[in-house]
Amino acid sequence: QAQEKIPQVEELLAKMTLEEKIGQLNLLTPGGGVATGSVVSEDVEAKIKAGDVGGVFGVSSPEKVRQAQELAVKNSRLGIPLLIGSDVIHGYRTTFPIPLGTSASWDLELIKKSAQIAAKEATADGINWNFSPMVDISRDPRWGRFAEGAGEDPFLGSAIAKAMVEGYQGEDLTQPHTMMATVKHMALYGAPEAGRDYNHVDMSRLKMFNEYLPPYKAAVDAGVGSVMTSFNDVDGVPASGNKWLLTDLLRERWGFGGFVVSDYTSVNEMIKHGMGDLQDVSALAINAGLDMDMVGEGFLTTLKKSVEEGKVSEEQITKAARRILEAKYKLGLLEDPYRYSDEKRPSKDILTKEHRAFARKLATRSFVLLKKHNSILPLDKTSKIALIGPLANNQTNMLGTWAPTGDYKLSIPVLEGFKNVAPDAKITYAKGANISDDTIFAKKVNVFGSRIEISKESSEELLQDALKVAKAADVIVAVVGEASEMSGEAASRTDIRIPESQKKLIRELVATKKPVVLVLMSGRPLNISEEMELPVSILQVWHPGIEAGNAIADVIFGEHNPSGKLTATWPRNVGQIPIYYSARNTGRPAPEDHFDKFKSHYLDSPNTPLFPFGYGLSYTDFEYSDVKADKESFKPGEEITFTATITNTGNFDGSEVVQLYIHDKVRSITPPKKQLAGFKKIALKKGESKQVSFTLTADDLKFYNGQLEYVYEPGEFEFFIGGSSDNKMTGSFKLTE
Ligand code: IFM
Repeated sequence: QAQEKIPQVEELLAKMTLEEKIGQLNLLTPGGGVATGSVVSEDVEAKIKAGDVGGVFGVSSPEKVRQAQELAVKNSRLGIPLLIGSDVIHGYRTTFPIPLGTSASWDLELIKKSAQIAAKEATADGINWNFSPMVDISRDPRWGRFAEGAGEDPFLGSAIAKAMVEGYQGEDLTQPHTMMATVKHMALYGAPEAGRDYNHVDMSRLKMFNEYLPPYKAAVDAGVGSVMTSFNDVDGVPASGNKWLLTDLLRERWGFGGFVVSDYTSVNEMIKHGMGDLQDVSALAINAGLDMDMVGEGFLTTLKKSVEEGKVSEEQITKAARRILEAKYKLGLLEDPYRYSDEKRPSKDILTKEHRAFARKLATRSFVLLKKHNSILPLDKTSKIALIGPLANNQTNMLGTWAPTGDYKLSIPVLEGFKNVAPDAKITYAKGANISDDTIFAKKVNVFGSRIEISKESSEELLQDALKVAKAADVIVAVVGEASEMSGEAASRTDIRIPESQKKLIRELVATKKPVVLVLMSGRPLNISEEMELPVSILQVWHPGIEAGNAIADVIFGEHNPSGKLTATWPRNVGQIPIYYSARNTGRPAPEDHFDKFKSHYLDSPNTPLFPFGYGLSYTDFEYSDVKADKESFKPGEEITFTATITNTGNFDGSEVVQLYIHDKVRSITPPKKQLAGFKKIALKKGESKQVSFTLTADDLKFYNGQLEYVYEPGEFEFFIGGSSDNKMTGSFKLTE
């Protein structure tokens, strides 16, 4: 991305005072948005007029954005327009499923389109810079922000990062339907110790390079305009002040040419990390390569002094200001500050029928059928259904976490969706239980938007009411799981089971002996080991977004056959965490079929997960046959092609995510047991067969070796093609010199 200097930017820089350059590095929020820290900006208007602000977030609508731009353009000495940022995480006003859900679609075209729609809506509302995609790999479902990422795998995560950046940014950032993307949170934010948000991270460089950094790099390679730092430290230095991370790696090794923004007050938070006072940490940050300071104003208040004292060079500040101005140039703001202030656009471009229809489609593609029992699904549209559960007729939890630009009042509750899709069904509803009966827990969840409502009725009354409804029906659909804000930022949990209030309800419903379908909502992999033992079918729907109820009904009544696959391993218990499919073998792998004392295992739990990465069922069945490679060995510069025939052997049309995994048998650093190397989603009619192929070159077998060089090593590899990561290798091939 390294680029030529832009004359218009250089002309501006030549006119700027040191203070004006520092002003460009300051990002504020005037309130009105969502504050995720204890500090909120003050006197924003006066600061904009004084030329002390480079961008704002939490301002939307063409009118308000025009006013903000006017403050800068008409009042500040040089009239430099503002970046207008926002957290458009899973859709703007048309809220899509949480990102963990959309990743489960494994459908890059749909994911890219969701970003395009989000960009169209957000830019119609004046926004030109988005704080997404969040691409943090996570293997710890205790971490609440699992919900915002694409799961555990660097290969899939990289493909999704690229699709999102391309979707938001389009081909040309000056087009008013596109916005600048921000890849976040650089780096390793998804691996906090003990799964607790903001906690310390410690990781080998090998693990970073091979497993956690690839999605950030993929976004950089796709041309992402900005990078946001993370709250955690990396190798003992907080990301916002980490020169190795922000300069040596990001700019010099990866060639990133955009700008780097801190997270909310993360520069100031380096004081508590133990890196010095505000002047020290601000100097550390700018010298490390951080360009913009979000909310904390450490840059604004201390950098001039640091220049005077020789702690920071003016050149360093000029470099950062240049990057901010270049971003404004790329967005076309220097040419027309009001490019994103078209008052006619919101009514045309936001919450359109097409966007809502797309949200419904994407949600149906994100659902994962975890368990089929007695072929009860899909339900007949004339069934007598007891629709039960605290999430069954609930609007406040459909959008999921981090949907600040959405409006939960526009979302479709499940009950309404059922009535829309199956008007002839006889549906009765009962709440049955609170999401949680724990008032202290509920209070903590509800700090960030009210999401757990505890009924006036006692738990027993709720339950008896539900049992009455259940007994009068032919089938029970229980909509259970997490409230939106039980996952997300600062929402880590040590117990990732369904809360006990709902577990009890589920047990009692099963005891009625009626068929039970669990519709499970969550922002993370849950431990549902106990529910898996029950005679129930289970459909995982994440938090499905604005069209929640309609989409769930589409799948429950068979309008769409579920085709999502998990993008993260689901553990049997928290003790197994971190658990992920691409783990290494160890020198003492446990035998699969018997206990052997001095092997790598637990005394009280199997090693295997509840559900492996890539897992997901369908109403139909798929069979894999004729899995082969077209050659036994190949050389660098040549290709190798793997094929498999997939047949739909069941009774429904359906789609399958076909996955290729490889295993490097011997290499200079211990290899993962398996690694995703390709995937394709195909549609198959009942009885239909298709051949799917994947072509790899030696470059696709590369990894970072002990010297952190990106290399392939000749030798023997194994592979399989299947419908989940949980398969044995079925073939082998060689890469020769
Ligand atoms: O973009 C977010 C980030 O993901 C978490 N902290 C606040 C930022 C701005 O809202």
